[in-house]
Amino acid sequence: MTVNVAIFISGGGSNMKALVHAIRELPSAKVAMVLSNRPDAGGIRWARENGILTRVVDYRLFGQDRAKFEAALTAELLANRIDCIFLAGFMRILTADFTSAWEGNILNIHPSLLPLYKGLHTHERALQSGDKHHGCTVHLVTSKLDDGPILGQARVPILADDTPDTLAARVLKMEHRLYPRVAEQFLQGRKDPINLSFEDEFL
Ligand code: GRF
Repeated sequence: MTVNVAIFISGGGSNMKALVHAIRELPSAKVAMVLSNRPDAGGIRWARENGILTRVVDYRLFGQDRAKFEAALTAELLANRIDCIFLAGFMRILTADFTSAWEGNILNIHPSLLPLYKGLHTHERALQSGDKHHGCTVHLVTSKLDDGPILGQARVPILADDTPDTLAARVLKMEHRLYPRVAEQFLQGRKDPINLSFEDEFL
């Protein structure tokens, strides 16, 4: 039985692309849909050009009505028999109703070494704190933001001349390696966490 994966994006979808390439190698899973809350998301065009079903649920059409927005998400997920959701640069906060309905089958990647720096502007905050390391985390999504059980982390050093942009670029490269590794394990039913550290590549 093939596991149908939906990937949620809001922008360019670089993590989505890495996941698509990795999941294509798995015999028992497929990326059945790429969905964005933004019609102009670059990742939607790429997914369509690469033969993947795409859907846009434009949150602006729902005003502040999160329930209606999420009902539209759910309709697309059920219509396409989706089994699990990978959030990848998806910038909408999902309500507890939605996350609890999918709990255990919804993953996210966050650009920090959780539990450090939940929320936004993680690279600036790591730099301001004088940390020596930073990184990214793949975790199961729960109703609490950036707070669910950690499935994997990748760590990089913070260099003396780093800016938020140079640090973000180093972390993003690691995201593209971490998420596919964790996704493969998750889709093969394995739950042992992965802790990847690529410090030596940069020193
Ligand atoms: C990046 O900042 C990444 O760190 C976070 O989402 C943003 C966009 O990622 N996970 P993507 O290129 O759309 O995957």
